[in-house]
Amino acid sequence: MYQILDGKKLRNKIIKEIETSETGKGKTLGVISVGNNKASQTYIKNKERSCEKTSIGFKRFNLLESASKKELLSLISELNNNNQISGFILQLPLPDKLKKFQNEFISAINPKKDADGFHPFNIGSVIASQKLEDVVMVPATSKGIIRLLDEYNVEYVSKRVVVVGRSNIVGKPIAIMMINRGATVTVCNSKTKNLSAITRHADILIVAVGKEKLITADMVKSGVVIVDVGMNRNINGKIVGDVDFDNVKEKASFITPVPGGVGPMTVVSLLENIIKTSNS
Ligand code: GUN
Repeated sequence: MYQILDGKKLRNKIIKEIETSETGKGKTLGVISVGNNKASQTYIKNKERSCEKTSIGFKRFNLLESASKKELLSLISELNNNNQISGFILQLPLPDKLKKFQNEFISAINPKKDADGFHPFNIGSVIASQKLEDVVMVPATSKGIIRLLDEYNVEYVSKRVVVVGRSNIVGKPIAIMMINRGATVTVCNSKTKNLSAITRHADILIVAVGKEKLITADMVKSGVVIVDVGMNRNINGKIVGDVDFDNVKEKASFITPVPGGVGPMTVVSLLENIIKTSNS
């Protein structure tokens, strides 16, 4: 029998704690978006709603789809110097024209204001540090995954963790965090040969690729813990993950739903990163 790793429920609990403690008072999250990517609008709305439930302010900065590299760099610089904004994120994906400069934009964010935890300084801190408290801004999705697994007392020490996807945003930071926690970690990518031979050995399988039904029931062992970071729209317009949930769940001990698993936890981590800022 599987158990759902309920990110929505945990998010609501943590948001309540933030609300009660009023630790968000005087803090503001900024969100930069470029263009009108449909999925991004939904994610941004979720972030705004979560801020509204706490005392954290929310401010959106939207550039046109046609915005230049210079305009975006200039907005980033403005927010770095704006003491009304505690921290901010650059919503991804960027329009095609700007995609190739993504690393440059992220590196231009002041690491102390990098609420997503994507800046090389923050990623480097995760590699160098064993304790998340010591990291200036923790990569948000990875921190959310750890928080969710901790809530359900999932063990990492000596476990075989397989991460599918090697992005700077999720795959690499979660792999490092799992290494720091004593897991034996394998990271796969789109060129990995015979993926199922590797995923079948996973005690914990973390999938962050963006491909519907990439992981099927024959690719996992019985009792596996599944963390699905994927967000895809299927042919019926429904949001689904990278894992064939209906079939894989029968073999799992724990599994995240999509939506309602990792997504809400990313938002919570963003808020926690904002709360940590000093406002100076
Ligand atoms: N697009 C999809 N997920 C994310 C995220 O966690 N942060 C940002 N900035 N953009 C995203």
